[in-house]
Amino acid sequence: MEKHIQSKGAIGIFDSGYGGLTILKTIREYMPEYDYIYLGDNARTPYGTRSFEVVYDFTLQAVKKLFDLGCQLVILACNTASAKALRSIQQIDLPLIDKQRRVLGVIRPTAECIGAITNNRHVGIFATTGTIKSESYIMEIHKLFPDITVTGEACPMWVPLVENNEYQSQGADYFIQQHINRLLKNDPLIDTIVLGCTHYPLLYNKIREYTPSHIHIIAQGEYVAHSLKDYLQRHQEMDKRCTKQGKCRFLTTESKEKFKESASIFLKQDDLKIESISLE
Ligand code: DGL
Repeated sequence: MEKHIQSKGAIGIFDSGYGGLTILKTIREYMPEYDYIYLGDNARTPYGTRSFEVVYDFTLQAVKKLFDLGCQLVILACNTASAKALRSIQQIDLPLIDKQRRVLGVIRPTAECIGAITNNRHVGIFATTGTIKSESYIMEIHKLFPDITVTGEACPMWVPLVENNEYQSQGADYFIQQHINRLLKNDPLIDTIVLGCTHYPLLYNKIREYTPSHIHIIAQGEYVAHSLKDYLQRHQEMDKRCTKQGKCRFLTTESKEKFKESASIFLKQDDLKIESISLE
């Protein structure tokens, strides 16, 4: 019962694993004064190859956990969860759980920035199989910019490369080149590529290396952070319900040690306090 009367809390940031840390990092740079709780469902990652129902169930469990911990606002820092679960959670679950709380995703803020970046209106999307199959990027981009040709390429090996800390290995190059070549074969005119999975910024250097230099490569962190800041400025009632002591908690469904090792390298911080939790 207590969870329903809590009226203030940290901003929740959820991802299936480490990828959402790329979003958290940028959000904290933009808005260091807020408190955050990061939740990575590392034990059940990747989500990208799972069915709609499973991604929805897992994501709802995570959102409920973050709500229990007092979060009033949760960001799904995961494209797969944003593509497959966000709408149902917003339309079906939130009205039943708490009409005041909010859950936002990462696809819409990314789609909004595309129009100003592509010159020739040919855009490519790298994402998980789930995100590509959902066609969420095509729909969101076309709502705003119907003239843009959008071509998607699913990269099922890329998340496991990141989660298993193999993304800097030589073996990773093969899988990275393979998808760049396939995408550009499907639309050789592409001048802008969106990294439509929050894990992919960790592969940025390798993706850049094998992508022709005239092509813009967009990582989402900055756009999501900008959009969140704008949202909180426009929604003062929500802003007042977000606590601001500059603190950050890290929760994982995997072992604390494993999460700490990878997250510390990525966030370049070795004093992270990690809590292990279970979701159901
Ligand atoms: N990082 C997530 C995304 O943005 C999900 C990766 C996965 O679990 O497959 O899609």
